[in-house]
Amino acid sequence: MMTPVTTLTVALLWFCLVACTWTASLDGKTGGQLSGVSNISSFLLDETSGTLYLGARDTILALNASTLSNTHTPIMWTVPEENRKTCEKKGKSEVDCQNYILVLELVSESQIYACGTYAFNPQCVYINTGDFSLEVEADGRVRVESGRGKCPFDPKNSVTTVTADGILYSATTSNFMGTAAHISRATGKEAERVRTIESSSWLSAPEFVSSAVVRYSQDASAGDDDDEIFFFFTEVAEEYNFYSEIKVPRVARVCKGDVGGMKTLQKRWTSFLKAGLVCEDRERGERYNTLRAVYTLEQRPAEPRSTNFYGLFSSQWECVSAVCVYSVADILEVMSGPFKEQSCESSSNPEPDFRPRPGQCISRALKAEGFESSLSLPDDMLSFLRDHPLMERSVVAVPLMVRRGITYTKIAVTLMPVSNGNHAAILHLGTDTGELHRVSVGGGEPTLLQEIPMFHKPVNNILLHQDQVIVGSGVSIAGVTAVGCSLFPTCELCVLAKRQGCVWREGICTPVTSRAPQAEGPEEPQWPCESAEARCSPDVQVLQVRAGLQILLPCVQVSPHPCFWTHPPGRHTRLLHWDLVVMVTNETVGSYSCSCQEDREGQKGRGQCLRAAYELVLQDPSTGGSVGHARLRGSVGLYLACLFLGLLFGAFLLAFLRKRSPTPGRVSQKEGGAL
Ligand SMILES: *[C@@H]1O[C@H](CO)[C@@H](O)[C@H](O)[C@H]1NC(C)=O
Ligand SMILES: *[C@@H]1O[C@H](CO)[C@@H](O)[C@H](O)[C@H]1NC(C)=O
Ligand SMILES: *[C@@H]1O[C@H](CO)[C@@H](O)[C@H](O)[C@H]1NC(C)=O
Repeated sequence: MMTPVTTLTVALLWFCLVACTWTASLDGKTGGQLSGVSNISSFLLDETSGTLYLGARDTILALNASTLSNTHTPIMWTVPEENRKTCEKKGKSEVDCQNYILVLELVSESQIYACGTYAFNPQCVYINTGDFSLEVEADGRVRVESGRGKCPFDPKNSVTTVTADGILYSATTSNFMGTAAHISRATGKEAERVRTIESSSWLSAPEFVSSAVVRYSQDASAGDDDDEIFFFFTEVAEEYNFYSEIKVPRVARVCKGDVGGMKTLQKRWTSFLKAGLVCEDRERGERYNTLRAVYTLEQRPAEPRSTNFYGLFSSQWECVSAVCVYSVADILEVMSGPFKEQSCESSSNPEPDFRPRPGQCISRALKAEGFESSLSLPDDMLSFLRDHPLMERSVVAVPLMVRRGITYTKIAVTLMPVSNGNHAAILHLGTDTGELHRVSVGGGEPTLLQEIPMFHKPVNNILLHQDQVIVGSGVSIAGVTAVGCSLFPTCELCVLAKRQGCVWREGICTPVTSRAPQAEGPEEPQWPCESAEARCSPDVQVLQVRAGLQILLPCVQVSPHPCFWTHPPGRHTRLLHWDLVVMVTNETVGSYSCSCQEDREGQKGRGQCLRAAYELVLQDPSTGGSVGHARLRGSVGLYLACLFLGLLFGAFLLAFLRKRSPTPGRVSQKEGGAL
């Protein structure tokens, strides 16, 4: 009795494998699993030497960033047995009492600063990049510094670090329990090691996500501004008093020149300002309130003021991912606005008029006024700042894209020049299931380009090196092409890249210039798919199904706009994000189609675009299993996996149901039709 079901399952598995392999082969992947290495959690790319450093459990690796092969023997940095035993005695597990290298920063041309959890007693070491060895003291022992405030004690706590002028700035927890969190200048002169104060109005159970330095000092036109350091995190909202914890994404900024106050805010930031980050789809009233990753990108090279932060968000309440972009200017505008009053009764008081403004960096103009450093700032102003770290307004953006049912973990962004001097952005997104997705945004609807299976573990790092995206999971690393026309695998997608100089020729999307040498004359490229009508009339996929199965019909939508399904009448369907779960019976076979709203470029109002069309036909039980023709695009690999899982589930259900009510063997063949 199980035989047809098994056949069906095997056929689908094979189908899925073929599809997945095909999507993967779209790119020349390099890299793979690194033997004997686990819990890779920190990445450092040295662009000058083309070396990629990885911090893993007890190990630091140096790889050639192009080939992803080892350039040196890995450095083993393990915790002595007795320290591990002490850690375990304090109630920590054996797994956690190892050395997880969570911080890797280049502090000079030839030195890396590496910090590890070192069995709940964080330590830092210096690595010489020349011969990739640990720096030693005169007596031959490894040079070790305390890692407190630089690296968490608990490997599960969050940390983000950044260096400016060889000095490490860190945001992490700084005690054994992981309850005290700080943003600090963690190395350099002892007198200049300033940090945040211990107050939940400054930081409230933060999950640190990312940090970046904006170096105005490298911009000749910028004038006298101090460099600024931005920290991105999600924290528990202090300003609401609800029963459940509400998470809020935030950005905080400090000035590089800040050395703390003289009396008030001594050895604490005098320039710490924070603001809420809002990524909200107003129309649907949806807010994405957990920040997962941030990618920092200078829109125009060597122009720090053009820096954009691409924030990847998810929701505390449902499975959805969204990307919003914030510019440095947006953030600074909010930070030069009103401060949030922390206690309710004084909300009627006007804001005191301080000079300099609380939180301002010490610019050359302020120095001329006699404020040589943060040490000369007035106490009353600093007291106000201590009590008012949060801005009244938030930095608000609408999502560039929204994807339901998928959890993205990391993001990187590349820009593709468009003929008119503008740029289209390609988002490279890693998923918690180990896939790399690419979405084109900017100019019309956000469009999913590719879904590439990479690993079986969540993607925990993405970075760009030359023309490659380097993607990492805890145990593997791989590189795939990041740029070029090959990112647009079908004719319909290639049309999107037309203005970026791509043409559809002989079944692939190639740059206009790479014309075959034998081609004569100005042969016009063929665009059989150019019209919006073609793009919005996908082929009907005929699926042969069995009664009793539960199947998932995918409808991919990466814009915030809604989709609608039309299907045979009855209550046999359930919407899962924009996909449709269908319970197959002899009455529910027929035509299914999904249409999505979309903004049409250069037009007012929204259009409808048919995204997917299916024809379900009941299968003849005697013919074994097969799925009817389906013209696969590069992006359906995942969905086939889902479909397969759905079918597998259905198969079990079928086996179960069959015992009770034998299904009729009626076969119905229908013509696949459009709407
Ligand atoms: C290290 O990796 C193992 C296996 O993937 C995992 O079970 C463990 O939780 C990881 N530890 C940390 C601290 O991330
Ligand atoms: C990395 O490998 C490429 C190709 O083999 C080579 O040209 C390059 O010099 C290597 N880089 C380093 C840093 O070893
Ligand atoms: C579907 O099958 C049931 C028996 O399970 C039968 O009574 C019904 O007439 C069938 N409906 C159609 C539309 O074939």
